[in-house]
Amino acid sequence: MTQVSRRAGVSASALRFYEARGLIEAHRTPGNQRRYPRHVLRRLAVIRAAQAVGLSLAEVSEALATVPLDRPVTREEWARLSRSWHDTLDLRIRALQQLRDGLTGCIGCGCLSQQTCPLRNAEDRLAAQGAGPRFLDAVVELEERDRAGG
Ligand code: FES
Repeated sequence: MTQVSRRAGVSASALRFYEARGLIEAHRTPGNQRRYPRHVLRRLAVIRAAQAVGLSLAEVSEALATVPLDRPVTREEWARLSRSWHDTLDLRIRALQQLRDGLTGCIGCGCLSQQTCPLRNAEDRLAAQGAGPRFLDAVVELEERDRAGG
């Protein structure tokens, strides 16, 4: 276990994975050993925080692409990233609440009717829009509704 691995609480394999995904950067010694700059700890803290609130590595990667790899993430950058993730989480929570509310009406029912069951209707409506994760589709739908002001 490297010193960075110990200090960040991240396994060496996770560090290699993050590096392979371009989330962090390591330098190589003449013996081809990885050396992480000190500021990688702050970047790892951002990655861990984002994962703790349920963001995917793809989302973290996209966000961190706006922060250069050769210096620490600044307070202002962290504020910007966390603000944008807050909005994303709000949308997901609302989508989950809608799914939960639909499920509540189904408890004790058992019909699973294509015409009257809100979950079946939602599924059919989303399925008609094409294949893909239903939850993400619901989030996209909420985002579009938000942009349209409704
Ligand atoms: S199962 Fe009957 S409304 Fe959903």
